[in-house]
Amino acid sequence: MLALISSVLLASILKTCTSADWCYQIQVTCESHCKGPDLWHEAHRECMSHRQSPINIVTKKTRLDPRLTPLEFSGYQEAFSGILKNNGHSVTVSVPHMATVGGGDLRATYKAVQFHFHWGENGGPGSEHTIDGEQYPMELHIVHMRQDFSTLQDALKAPSGVAVLGFFYEESRSSNRKYDGFIEALNKVEHTNDNTTIRSISLSNLILSEGNMTKYYRYNGSLTTPPCTEAVVWTVFENPIPLSKDQLSAFSNLKFHNNTPMVKTFRPVQPHKGRFVHRSGSAVLLASFTLLLVGVISALGLSQPN
Ligand SMILES: *[C@@H]1O[C@H](CO)[C@@H](O)[C@H](O)[C@H]1NC(C)=O
Ligand SMILES: *[C@@H]1O[C@H](CO)[C@@H](O)[C@H](O)[C@H]1NC(C)=O
Ligand SMILES: *[C@@H]1O[C@H](CO)[C@@H](O)[C@H](O)[C@H]1NC(C)=O
Ligand SMILES: [Zn+2]
Repeated sequence: MLALISSVLLASILKTCTSADWCYQIQVTCESHCKGPDLWHEAHRECMSHRQSPINIVTKKTRLDPRLTPLEFSGYQEAFSGILKNNGHSVTVSVPHMATVGGGDLRATYKAVQFHFHWGENGGPGSEHTIDGEQYPMELHIVHMRQDFSTLQDALKAPSGVAVLGFFYEESRSSNRKYDGFIEALNKVEHTNDNTTIRSISLSNLILSEGNMTKYYRYNGSLTTPPCTEAVVWTVFENPIPLSKDQLSAFSNLKFHNNTPMVKTFRPVQPHKGRFVHRSGSAVLLASFTLLLVGVISALGLSQPN
């Protein structure tokens, strides 16, 4: 009898473990034997391959790349209805209409498929990419596939089949009114597998003005969740999107499948393994040009007495 009970127990434990074959570090506890980031590779070998994401971007080591001109967006302003879903790891929104991004040395046109977020706990550190070691409170990923593919599955088979635009968030004093409807809708997807339709949102409303998107970083990487497929051209924007503390904290009300708070949904940064990060022509260049000019002028000034 005891053996029967314990085997039933064991089976049910195994069942809850296999309900998700991977989890974030915060979900790894004595009771839950889910596989945290350092074990993802056991079921998904690519998670320990050579061009993994996210990474820490060391700005001093980035390479200025004049080909990284402003990106060209199309359909980003169009309002659409998308399905917001709690998928047990994040909240995702499907993008049903044609919205594309190209230019900026992307070498193809990419179509938006879905977007989702990574966040901390009540506005604490939660981005996936970090800049000079700084972790922002949240990060938005707009996932695109090369336009000549018809499914994300197929696009993931090509080395640059997928392009992800990454945006950081920063805490602002006042709330960001453009996010009101979206954050309100989070209440309807508190539990795993909940979904709801959000009406009349547009991608451009969620991100920055075009003038604030000219500074970005570019590198070749992967999906940041299993199967960690190395098919992603990453664009990470320097300027963050402002949200108030309350707005950032609203994401912490969501729940993982076992009803614990969905917080700290980020993968730790991965080794660069010889990769370089390129940066668009930016204020950094302008600043060094100004310094050069000041140098030349003062050198001229010094040589005048002769
Ligand atoms: C949304 O949830 C309903 C059940 O409430 C389910 O029937 C439907 O398949 C779900 N849709 C998606 C896209 O997950
Ligand atoms: C960039 O964002 C700031 C703050 O939101 C805004 O004041 C400024 O006008 C924007 N700049 C451009 C070029 O869009
Ligand atoms: C990404 O990979 C492509 C193809 O190998 C290469 O041409 C490109 O320079 C790489 N981009 C960066 C930023 O390293
Ligand atoms: Zn992501």
